Amino acid sequence: MTTKLRIACIVGARPNFMKIAPILRAFEEHDCLDPVLIHTGQHYDSNLSDIFFEELGIKRPEISLGIGSGSHGKQTAEILIAIENVLVEASENGTPFHRMIVVGDVNSTMAATIAAAKLLIPVAHVEAGLRSFDLTMPEEINRMLTDSICDMLLPSEPDGVKNLQHEGHDDSKIHLVGNVMIDTLLSQVERAKQSSILQDLSLEPGKYGVVTLHRPANVDDEKVLGELLKVLVEISANLPLVFPIHPRTKSRLEAFGYLDLLDSASNITCLGPAGYNDFLCLTSQAKVIVTDSGGLQEESTALGVPCLTMRPNTERPITVTLGTSTLVGSDSEKLKLHLTEVINGTYKTGECPALWDGHAAERIAEIFVSEAARLE
Ligand code: UD1
Repeated sequence: MTTKLRIACIVGARPNFMKIAPILRAFEEHDCLDPVLIHTGQHYDSNLSDIFFEELGIKRPEISLGIGSGSHGKQTAEILIAIENVLVEASENGTPFHRMIVVGDVNSTMAATIAAAKLLIPVAHVEAGLRSFDLTMPEEINRMLTDSICDMLLPSEPDGVKNLQHEGHDDSKIHLVGNVMIDTLLSQVERAKQSSILQDLSLEPGKYGVVTLHRPANVDDEKVLGELLKVLVEISANLPLVFPIHPRTKSRLEAFGYLDLLDSASNITCLGPAGYNDFLCLTSQAKVIVTDSGGLQEESTALGVPCLTMRPNTERPITVTLGTSTLVGSDSEKLKLHLTEVINGTYKTGECPALWDGHAAERIAEIFVSEAARLE
């Protein structure tokens, strides 16, 4: 009997789910691959987790670790211990994992990678090589540590390849596969547009902006968050805004007493975190997206929607050089300037990067099929 390649597929937080969905689908096309889905439970609210499983047709995780929130150290350590237990038990039960695959840059990504690498289980990293060169971002630490101990690096864009080469990784470990998140976007966008959310919120296509904010650098500091909100209120005088609020941001808005300011802005509609389809319905038909999210910079580029990125730097520079994103940091003048361009129709038009074509996960599966062939 031929041995199947048993792959521990790790997810933990919201941005992981849309990345793993096409990968699992592509793996399931091949009898020689045996993907086992492990959810760390970093995100546990149903609107940050379950809804994505339902809408994206992701199978129930075979293993759910239920780790939940905590400081970075506590959360990372608990995930590391729990994943190590899973890997060791599998080995003791005679069903060892041959490999692990991790996606993105969240704490679950890094913790699972450390657990596997120490047990000599090779790890593949999807979205390898992205660098903001900003060590104040927890995700940058996760990216660097993860890549440094993976044996298979799967960048989504050429800048990722360059960064990995610069860090001394051998070319034989690096495979430019494209962007799995865009696989999901392209497969869902037409269905998403059927959502009733625009009618429900009395919005017209192309006549509103979408805002998301959740980076610690923007929302954890009272003064910075206050300045950003002031700009959003100003913008909303000319363009209605929809603001699905992340739980981290919600708790900061409450703590700093800013909820009243938002309530009094009649042109800003605040929502809870949106599901995948409602959110894609909103973003795909927006006039502009104002965000500090990494994933949304890529999605807006794929959708051809202008994106004003409220960060001083980005690990996804292709969305600026080729795509529709502009870094505005927390500079309200810059934000207003570009917004005026968007409204006047003079804002740049972008292009979609190569290999953001809906087939990245299939390219990953092919690499794993070759690995499975070497198992016997
Ligand atoms: C995490 C990721 C970030 C990603 C973001 C997307 C890390 C370091 N950060 O940040 O890269 O862009 O997810 O959402 O891994 N909370 C809930 N319900 C949940 C999960 C969290 O209320 O289901 C609350 C927590 O209690 C905490 C806050 O949200 O107050 C932050 O959660 P956490 O997972 O630590 O980090 P995120 O900011 O979501």
